[in-house]
Amino acid sequence: MLDTLFSMNGKVCVVTGGSSGLGSYMARGFLEAGAERVYVTARSAETLEAKAQELSAIASGECIPLVGDLSTIAGVEALASHLAEREQHIDVLVNNAGLGTGGAFDKMSVVDWDRTMDINTRSPLFLTQALLGLLKARATVDAPSSVIFISSVAASEIFAHVMAYSTSKKAVEHLTPQIALALADDHIRVNAIAPGRFFSEMTRGAWKDPEAESYKAELQRLPAHRYGDMHDIAGVAIMLCSRAGAYFTGEVLNVDGGHRLRR
Ligand SMILES: NC(=O)c1ccc[n+]([C@@H]2O[C@H](COP(=O)([O-])OP(=O)(O)OC[C@H]3O[C@@H](n4cnc5c(N)ncnc54)[C@H](OP(=O)(O)O)[C@@H]3O)[C@@H](O)[C@H]2O)c1
Repeated sequence: MLDTLFSMNGKVCVVTGGSSGLGSYMARGFLEAGAERVYVTARSAETLEAKAQELSAIASGECIPLVGDLSTIAGVEALASHLAEREQHIDVLVNNAGLGTGGAFDKMSVVDWDRTMDINTRSPLFLTQALLGLLKARATVDAPSSVIFISSVAASEIFAHVMAYSTSKKAVEHLTPQIALALADDHIRVNAIAPGRFFSEMTRGAWKDPEAESYKAELQRLPAHRYGDMHDIAGVAIMLCSRAGAYFTGEVLNVDGGHRLRR
């Protein structure tokens, strides 16, 4: 049973923001679990192509780079039409590309608010809508397609200085069960992962010096006493998209080492 429970064998997957951090960890996990093709997307062609090459060498499945900017609806539509030219169906969509923003309330600009909401909330919703035909194409009761939204522990916390980011992620968590219900009859399961502190470019400033007092204090405060890594996020993403997690829909899974329990 264990051979097939967590298998992604033959699946076609799309991971936005797959050139670094959490997106690249999930893309790698899908390939190692047997996915046939994993499309990774990002704006920087150089980083994306290097990552796709690295991941293609790891398993028998192929990692394919698709360059594009998902902060705009034009970018969302362009990605959807590139995928429609190449694929008859998609099994897995991970809406991972995102932007961390922060700053004092009195300094928040409309531009910052909009760009945070656009990339973190609006684009994941409309990319899912644009890919609906491909997600539906082969989905059945016994082999449903899977959409994952990436939220954040910030959605469960009250901060004075990361309002746009935490609101954008709270919105993602509220959208998740609503889209799950809307797509249930199409056999598309929709869940969200809310990561805590993970090693990535977004958090590099906090962990780049392992001897920094601020980093040591953070590890002390986290109930898991460590940051999340590739295995922590890939394991949960594989579970959600394989037979193992096939009875989950409309759920938000906090993968945060207990972060939200002790602030
Ligand atoms: N790291 C954490 O501790 C943590 C915690 C909670 C939630 N998250 C969430 O996890 C997700 C991934 O973050 P990460 O930490 O892995 O960050 P990361 O290492 O900075 O990766 C972000 C990825 O998104 C892409 N991206 C950014 N803006 C984009 C745009 N406008 N269009 C297309 N692609 C874009 C980036 O590539 P380009 O820059 O080349 O476009 C990159 O591939 C985000 O949604 C973030 O909010 C992270």
